[in-house]
Amino acid sequence: MSNENKSVWNSNITFILAMIGSAVGLGNIWRFPNVLYSNGGGSFMIPYIVSLFLLGISFVLVEYAVGYKFKTSLSKILYSVYNKLEPVAWFVLTIVFLITTYYICVVGWDLIYVVLSFTKAWGSNPDLFFSQSVLQATDSIDGITTIVPAVLASIVAIWFVTWAILRTNLNDGIGKVSKVLLPLLCIIVVIIVIFSLTLPGASIGYTQIFTPDWNALLNPNVWLAAFGQIVFSLSLGMAIALTYASYLPEGSKLTDNAIVVAFSNSGFEVFNSIGIFSILGFMAMTSGIPFNELVTEGTGLAFVVFPQVFNVMGPSANIIGPLFFLCIFFAGITSIIALLEGVCYSISEKFNFSRKKSATIVCIVGVCVSSIFATGAGSLILGVFDAFLNNFALLFAVLLECIIFGWIYDFDKLIATLNENSKIKVGKTWKTVIKFILPICILFLWIQGILSSLADEDPVSITIKAILLIVLIALPIIFTKLPAKNEDFYKEVQH
Ligand code: PFF
Repeated sequence: MSNENKSVWNSNITFILAMIGSAVGLGNIWRFPNVLYSNGGGSFMIPYIVSLFLLGISFVLVEYAVGYKFKTSLSKILYSVYNKLEPVAWFVLTIVFLITTYYICVVGWDLIYVVLSFTKAWGSNPDLFFSQSVLQATDSIDGITTIVPAVLASIVAIWFVTWAILRTNLNDGIGKVSKVLLPLLCIIVVIIVIFSLTLPGASIGYTQIFTPDWNALLNPNVWLAAFGQIVFSLSLGMAIALTYASYLPEGSKLTDNAIVVAFSNSGFEVFNSIGIFSILGFMAMTSGIPFNELVTEGTGLAFVVFPQVFNVMGPSANIIGPLFFLCIFFAGITSIIALLEGVCYSISEKFNFSRKKSATIVCIVGVCVSSIFATGAGSLILGVFDAFLNNFALLFAVLLECIIFGWIYDFDKLIATLNENSKIKVGKTWKTVIKFILPICILFLWIQGILSSLADEDPVSITIKAILLIVLIALPIIFTKLPAKNEDFYKEVQH
């Protein structure tokens, strides 16, 4: 992947599908419905749409403009902007890599459920089944010495699939996989939503989300939640959009593409949540469990509440169940490859490795790190990784990126890049958003994240967080200090 044989998307549609595939992931399927419900239902759409336009699309545009203009990896871009900034790139990429190691584990659990769902093998108590039979979870860190074979096998399988896709050239790997999985994902979601609307009690669910609580709009936390969801869902700051845009040919319509991608991603999560809520409405009616006790997020929703629903759904659950878990699986795979592409690209560019070599190295190290989550203490450690990396480290990285591109780099050049070919033009408002509004919002979200982390005084999580912090400081220094094998790396890029 050195500059001589630089990858280029074979069509704009491949780029758009790969971008949508990167954004649509677990966050859309199991995070959004809960965030929507707990933050005012229908009225949440107002802060959500404002955040989408004002902050989400704005930041995606920065990543598109930078990637397209520099046509190189994040590490080389930051080195070119100002050579002392290279560690920031490795810092971002280390976070992205670590997030992927546990994201893969969750997709691994899902893969197990794809298989289990054909026979509803979770039995009558899915909660107990998930924690005791699947995760074999221990309450303490001592469980780290026991391997859970099924989870390990699943993690290894997903790393293998990831490796096979990443090592293949851009259009045959990521391009083809996105072109196949994304349409399949959409078909499955349409089937699930149509089916769910026919269930008795569905209206108990979907009316909940479309019944607005206007008072919620006065609560600043609702606005922060909307913004947080956009950051997560659009995978902001993870160098994904930047990397994918660097593979675009000259003449691409950047702004128009960004809007298509952002709308598709949000459309997907809103549409999908109609299905999720209708199914939960059915459950509330059938089992008498209050609706608010059913609406949860993350693993609780996918691996506990949904199996409970499938248990009472009758024979149709034998089709809808596997489809639901397959949907999470497809969404997960396209996000995983997107997360790692930027990491591999930076390694290839600096050390002059082929795509195959960097994919192999990253995946081998990845399997080793992910195996920690295949132990009895796996879910406990995963929770700490997630809280620390998402609420704290990633937001800090997005903040740094805003400052670098908004203040250190000549921002007007990015405006010119975006306006070159796009029908939709950007100007001063965008500049103000990136320089002032976005960093302030991220700062608030970040402080909120730190405060919630501080509340956690458990010595095990403090130790894990301390280890992560050391890794996040040490790895960027090491990667920066290692001399580049590619002599072009230190040459200035035209910008
Ligand atoms: N945007 C994707 C999702 O919603 O699942 C991918 C992703 C986002 C992965 C954030 C990891 C993450 F921390």
